[in-house]
Amino acid sequence: MVILGASGDLTKRKLLPAIYHLERVRRLPARFAVIGVARTPQDDEGFRAHFAASLREFAGVDAATDEVAGSLASRLSYLSGEFDDPRLYRELRERLDQIDGAEGVLFYLAIPPNVYGTVIEMLGASGLASSPDKGWRRIIVEKPFGSDLSSARELNRLAHRHFDEKQVFRIDHYLGKETVQNLLVFRFANGMFEPIWNRRYIDHVQITAAETVGVERRAGYYERAGALRDMVQNHLMQLLTLVAMEPPTSFTAESVRDRKLDALLSVQPLIEGGQGLEHVVRAQYGSGWVNGVDVPGYLEEHGVARASTTETYAALRLHLDSWRWAGVPFFLRTGKRLPKRTTEIAIQFRRPPLEIFRRVSPSPVTANLLVVNVQPDEGISVRFEAKLPGMRMQLAPVMMNFRYKAAFGGDVPEAYETLLLDAMLGDPTLFSRHDFAEASWALITPIHEAWASGRVGTIPQYEAGEWGPREAETLIGAEGRRWRTL
Ligand SMILES: NC(=O)c1ccc[n+]([C@@H]2O[C@H](COP(=O)([O-])OP(=O)(O)OC[C@H]3O[C@@H](n4cnc5c(N)ncnc54)[C@H](OP(=O)(O)O)[C@@H]3O)[C@@H](O)[C@H]2O)c1
Repeated sequence: MVILGASGDLTKRKLLPAIYHLERVRRLPARFAVIGVARTPQDDEGFRAHFAASLREFAGVDAATDEVAGSLASRLSYLSGEFDDPRLYRELRERLDQIDGAEGVLFYLAIPPNVYGTVIEMLGASGLASSPDKGWRRIIVEKPFGSDLSSARELNRLAHRHFDEKQVFRIDHYLGKETVQNLLVFRFANGMFEPIWNRRYIDHVQITAAETVGVERRAGYYERAGALRDMVQNHLMQLLTLVAMEPPTSFTAESVRDRKLDALLSVQPLIEGGQGLEHVVRAQYGSGWVNGVDVPGYLEEHGVARASTTETYAALRLHLDSWRWAGVPFFLRTGKRLPKRTTEIAIQFRRPPLEIFRRVSPSPVTANLLVVNVQPDEGISVRFEAKLPGMRMQLAPVMMNFRYKAAFGGDVPEAYETLLLDAMLGDPTLFSRHDFAEASWALITPIHEAWASGRVGTIPQYEAGEWGPREAETLIGAEGRRWRTL
């Protein structure tokens, strides 16, 4: 595995701990080695010290005494150089040639998006993208994959100039989460949910990805991204398609990805001819209190322009043109500095057609609800009505909960572990295909264009620690629904 960007945050926080955990459960190939590449000058020992620091901080492991860490460390090496310098790639090639018996090479682009193009081009030009006699070559590209439709197309075009689509793995770590994969099992390995998974029984769907953190130290990136690019175009669109897709004919990468793409293509364009902005709300957090801490507003954060219009919150109302979903709105929301860190999908069912308990029970019947909790407490819950014990006929909603940790124990693999292993095995089911990335940008880019055109008024604010702006309540309220209280 070649990590390009080996001195960065992602490598330290996610990749090195994931490699360690994979080795600990003996899932890595016997002849596995890592070559780290970045500009920072350091030698192999320096990179090994970086690995030890990463394990200490993010895996709670002391590399000095841990046998697995020690054995892995001996297989780490490091190359420094500029990413546009052909010499770096010549040296990389020599290093790879020295590693005997490797089945293939996985290049991981853990670098800033503006360097993706250079590295892909240089890997291609130096002949590293293919090696018929020396095993497979694959490349993992981190998010964000482009910043709009034309840049995503350009990146796909460049990648396809040097790599087959089969070699390209566009990562969306949400797809590596257990609950997200379980959604496929839940829907397509059980006979009882699919018959009611449609417009006849489902009233609407809400997908929420809430963060308590602010922009932290990532203002440089976030100012150019915003919530729509950072969360909606990738993670929330993936979740939406897993809920909305038709059953694939088999559990193969192309069958699953074809059906997801169909679902995405059935989403009605949000903006057409400049119309449709009433389906989208954006906002920025002001100062406030989150988890008992007094926090500054977005415009006061370090590295944020004082007149910034970057959205830290977005809510969307989507309609899908399909027989299954016609008339069922999908509401998506995401934001920073919200009261709670949680990601969930809520399927709100219709009320029973006849309320026969209306006269006897003082409380109205609550409609059924199915909640897929993606993080942090991974699980699935169903809400249904029950009779309260006692002489009177009184109803109350109760929850039936399945929790991953309680059912199967604590060891749920991290998303990056699952995805790294899949990429090594050449299974792209949980990665975005080129057409999915473009179709998703085709929905999102017109919103950015409309916002940039200046036809839209000032950006609304919400108090840090609140559930977003009033405009988001109006967006969902206009359809006679309410956001769930989480
Ligand atoms: N951090 C996360 O948790 C996270 C999560 C999801 C996605 N990502 C994505 O993963 C990629 C890497 O993110 P990161 O947080 O690890 O970034 P980072 O901390 O800034 O690291 C970037 C890495 O790329 C190297 N690099 C090479 N050319 C560079 C250039 N021209 N400018 C800046 N750095 C350059 C840096 O090392 P040298 O300076 O030594 O060359 C460093 O190793 C990004 O695409 C990001 O969007 C990160």
